[in-house]
Amino acid sequence: MKFSETIVAMVLGIALSFDIGGNMSCNAAGQYDYFQFVQESPFVFCKNITGKGCNILPLPRIFTIHGLWPSNFKHRHKPCVGAQFSRDVMNEASNDELRADLELSWRSFISGRSNMDFWEYEYNKHGKCSDHIFSQTQYFDRARSLWKQYKAHTLFSNRSVEPGKSYRFTDLEQAIRSFIGGRRPLLLCMQSEWKKKTKQYLLEVVICFDDIAINPVNCPKRMSKECLPQSPVWYML
Ligand SMILES: *[C@@H]1O[C@H](CO)[C@@H](O)[C@H](O)[C@H]1NC(C)=O
Ligand SMILES: *[C@@H]1O[C@H](CO)[C@@H](O)[C@H](O)[C@H]1NC(C)=O
Ligand SMILES: *[C@@H]1O[C@H](CO)[C@@H](O)[C@H](O)[C@H]1NC(C)=O
Repeated sequence: MKFSETIVAMVLGIALSFDIGGNMSCNAAGQYDYFQFVQESPFVFCKNITGKGCNILPLPRIFTIHGLWPSNFKHRHKPCVGAQFSRDVMNEASNDELRADLELSWRSFISGRSNMDFWEYEYNKHGKCSDHIFSQTQYFDRARSLWKQYKAHTLFSNRSVEPGKSYRFTDLEQAIRSFIGGRRPLLLCMQSEWKKKTKQYLLEVVICFDDIAINPVNCPKRMSKECLPQSPVWYML
């Protein structure tokens, strides 16, 4: 699929691969209200990473995990308590299968950043905020389960939404909704500009879950990065 537009750099950047703003962070007491399970399109993500570029070719034509974020409805980010990521725990033999699954489902695409680096970053920034509920291993196991159950490319495909085409926002949203009891997901887009015409590409799909990361809940609306509902959304993998 051709993808020759120049992508507006401000939208992507490394920062975006880690954080998108909004009320996603837990507070200092380790409390949080819900989880955001964030999946990204490697293709769209890799289209314009300022500077470094992506290191994996060919890119997998699936949605992969960006993060599982304990989040609050209200408070903005404060550093939360919780134990730092342990590579030793992740490398334990009993986690061999988990690790192997995450190597496929929760991948780093940035040169010089290993998958383990990415997990560590995400865990220290977000995951440890739920460590009074989940051990590190349980947390990653939960992320793996959510991915298996809610892989966005599989949900879309089930509703005959296939990559390489543009769709109405509501059709994409409805496809996801139909698998999460009608709850509201978030669709985040990268806006790109070519010859003064702007196109939007589906970058991330966010499904929100309750505080044990089992039951889907409505995602709170977020002002920035959400796809514009009035314009077509390109779905590319
Ligand atoms: C990323 O976007 C910038 C600014 O729009 C552009 O100059 C650059 O070529 C793009 N890089 C890639 C890899 O597409
Ligand atoms: C996010 O936090 C701000 C500031 O506390 C608040 O005004 C806003 O309502 C929150 N948004 C959601 C969706 O909870
Ligand atoms: C769609 O999903 C349903 C329920 O998960 C499943 O029974 C069905 O076989 C799927 N259909 C396709 C075409 O993937």
